[in-house]
Amino acid sequence: MKIIITLAYLLSSILFIYGLKNLSSPKTARMGNFYAMLAMLIAIVVTLLDKKIVDFTFIIAGLVIGSAIGVIAAKKVHMTAMPQMVAMFNGLGGGASAFVALAVYYRMTAEPQLNIIISVVISLFIGALTLTGSLVAYGKLQGLLKSAPVIFKMHQTLNLLLFTSFVIMGIFFTINPNNSSSLLAILAIASVLGVLFVIPIGGANMPVVISLLNSCSGLAAASTGFVLSNNVLIISGALVGASGLILTRIMCKAMNRSLADVIFGAIGGVVSEDIGKKDKQRVIKYAEEDASMILESAQSIIIIPGYGLAVAQAQFALYEMAKTLIEKGISVRYAIHPVAGRMPGHMNVLLAEANVPYDLLFDLGDINADFQNTDVALVVGANDVVNPAARVDKNSPLYGMPILNADKAKTVIICKRSLSPGFSGVDNELFYSKKTMMIFGDAKDSINTMVKLLKA
Ligand code: TAP
Repeated sequence: MKIIITLAYLLSSILFIYGLKNLSSPKTARMGNFYAMLAMLIAIVVTLLDKKIVDFTFIIAGLVIGSAIGVIAAKKVHMTAMPQMVAMFNGLGGGASAFVALAVYYRMTAEPQLNIIISVVISLFIGALTLTGSLVAYGKLQGLLKSAPVIFKMHQTLNLLLFTSFVIMGIFFTINPNNSSSLLAILAIASVLGVLFVIPIGGANMPVVISLLNSCSGLAAASTGFVLSNNVLIISGALVGASGLILTRIMCKAMNRSLADVIFGAIGGVVSEDIGKKDKQRVIKYAEEDASMILESAQSIIIIPGYGLAVAQAQFALYEMAKTLIEKGISVRYAIHPVAGRMPGHMNVLLAEANVPYDLLFDLGDINADFQNTDVALVVGANDVVNPAARVDKNSPLYGMPILNADKAKTVIICKRSLSPGFSGVDNELFYSKKTMMIFGDAKDSINTMVKLLKA
């Protein structure tokens, strides 16, 4: 029996790895998800059989309730709320690991071994920190909390003090594992640290935090795997931890920030005092008729999608417009900023949903040099990712982040509803540029109107 279980765990681990590999391309991502789901199913079934559970009542009740909530949430969630859902998943993953570690500790009858003690401490610390940190990230993404940094005097000193207390409590618990109060103190410290860790991080830097919390949820699961001596949990947790770290690195690179800057710098979301005071007269408003004429007479167009595309659900209309323009012999490409939208790969997922061919999608590094030879940069619901302040304004929270060079194109057409800022809360000079045509309105409505005009 033991060998069958070990082989099943091995198969599950291989499927997890294969699933991850498939997730690296939009073409194979659906299959990647399928392999990972299969791996999870094998892991759960084998674990339930292996552990010779006497009473399945609570497990079945938990499975039914959890699955029902999961199915309803997944069906109901809007595409725009996916990032919040991912933040919730991370948090719940971390929380589950922490509570499983705690439960195992309370059920121990004999004195635990040193490796188990250390694993319990790590699971509890990382898991609880991930839970509360993710809840704050959820609040920021959902707009329940301010996305601007919240930082108070001695913030970092308090963080340091709390971390030191965690280390001391960890040592106390290791010396005397029968005293559970030090373990509960670790739970409290980690919960507070999670909140203090995420509140000072400003809007524009949230992508880094989300990937980091994702990685933490994996690390918490891996250490719980050590507590339970469950190999498949150790492997799958380590995979989530490692891939989350790789994603964190990619996001840091995309934002041109070091991880230390993001965590300790409190940068990324100071709202400009100027917003609303700008000379609105300087904005050149146009109608869809003007924009479609410009588009029709262009030879090359680069489309820049952003979060507003997801809000408006304008991906299908945009696809239709691009198709119409291509049929007229115009070169149309899409420029994808790595942090456009609210989750890694957000724009790729949206555009894939509308069947936009992958070979028309270009990463920032591959297309940025082409803007200067492009007739029209069509910005659809994007803002921060084309804000030139990131290049020149040292006081801007966006400063240093590579942006898509929309402002270098001959004409810029921006589809959005108002002059409101993007997630980072900073104003965008591009709206006031002489070469910019602002098309105010919901992106889907504006694009649909333009499609009709182009087809007429
Ligand atoms: P944003 O800078 O957030 O701008 C989106 C714009 O879409 C808004 O200015 C909004 O303007 C417009 N909009 C909203 N609804 C619209 C609708 N129905 N029709 C047309 N326009 C609409 O988006 P971005 O350029 O994609 O940049 C992403 C930002 O989010 C960055 O600051 C990034 O750091 C942050 N962020 C990213 C992630 C990840 S992982 N990608 C995670 C968290 C945060 P109006 O209200 O005027 O229409």
